[in-house]
Amino acid sequence: MQLQSAYFFIKYLLFKERMFEIFPCKKEKEIVRRVENIRVKLNELILKRIEQLKESPVKDQDKMVFLDLYVTEYLKQQTQKEQSIDIEEILHQFITLFFAGTDTTATTSGTCLYYLAKYPEIQSEILEEVREVIGDADVNEENLNKLTKVNALIQEVLRLRNPAFVTLFRTVKHDKQVQDIKLKKGWALVQLQNASSIQDSHFDDATEFNYKRWLNKGNVVKNDNGYIHIPFAAGPRNCIGQHMALMEAKVIIALLVRKYKILLNPDVQQVRFGVKFLQTVEPDNCLLFEKRI
Ligand code: HEM
Repeated sequence: MQLQSAYFFIKYLLFKERMFEIFPCKKEKEIVRRVENIRVKLNELILKRIEQLKESPVKDQDKMVFLDLYVTEYLKQQTQKEQSIDIEEILHQFITLFFAGTDTTATTSGTCLYYLAKYPEIQSEILEEVREVIGDADVNEENLNKLTKVNALIQEVLRLRNPAFVTLFRTVKHDKQVQDIKLKKGWALVQLQNASSIQDSHFDDATEFNYKRWLNKGNVVKNDNGYIHIPFAAGPRNCIGQHMALMEAKVIIALLVRKYKILLNPDVQQVRFGVKFLQTVEPDNCLLFEKRI
């Protein structure tokens, strides 16, 4: 469900998360209903896992998934009567990790596949690398690190079509002057994550898709102050899943390219980049996968 019009955007800027309580329209009510639904389902899941781990705890920490780590700590605190984690916190962390960690990588990989379909010569170069480095073997840490072209492809997608480019919402804590912009305490601020990544002052032919720029030995970013290409944000709240995301995207692309020829769907007249929550290629059926023989 999309909330794309200026009305929703302005409402968000004015009321922030309270926008859904103030004169909610049909779409907003539907979103609230869905969010509530997710909360109820996740709550059930967490309570069920608490009961399961009470009965049979997982001993080996390496075998614990994220939820088990949290629940185990929750149960430990309960026996020690020092409860600082509550179920609400587990639920919030679950939602954060689930939403931050799944669609982001999926849309990045999807956009990479779109460019491979759009530029078959790039697809051949990527396939050649995958065959040379991995061949028919399984993907492992060592061969993943050697996929420099696949890595360059992902970097270029994160530069030009970062899925998370409008997710940086902040509240201004103090009045502040940033160059010629006056920021007032309490303002809601949306930072366009990729604004600097698509400037010619920082990248040659900045709006062109050119994954090979990342294969150059020299500095790719011109006039870099360290904050020009930051697809995973920067500072203390940067993305905690960035290394995992890059690994996942490499695995997805390598395995799919090895097995399938990726094609643009000729029935789709127009492919575009849209923003629901994340920036992604639309429509969903814009690609076709043809098994390689
Ligand atoms: C290509 C994939 C990804 C991109 C582009 C991406 C991008 C970002 C960005 C820009 C932020 C900062 C948001 C902000 O400051 O408001 C962020 C935060 C975060 N990301 Fe990612 N991310 C990706 C994958 C992942 C994965 C795979 C995980 C988890 C396994 C993850 C977990 C998180 C978490 C938990 C935060 C919040 C960190 C905090 O607020 O302290 N992300 N991500």
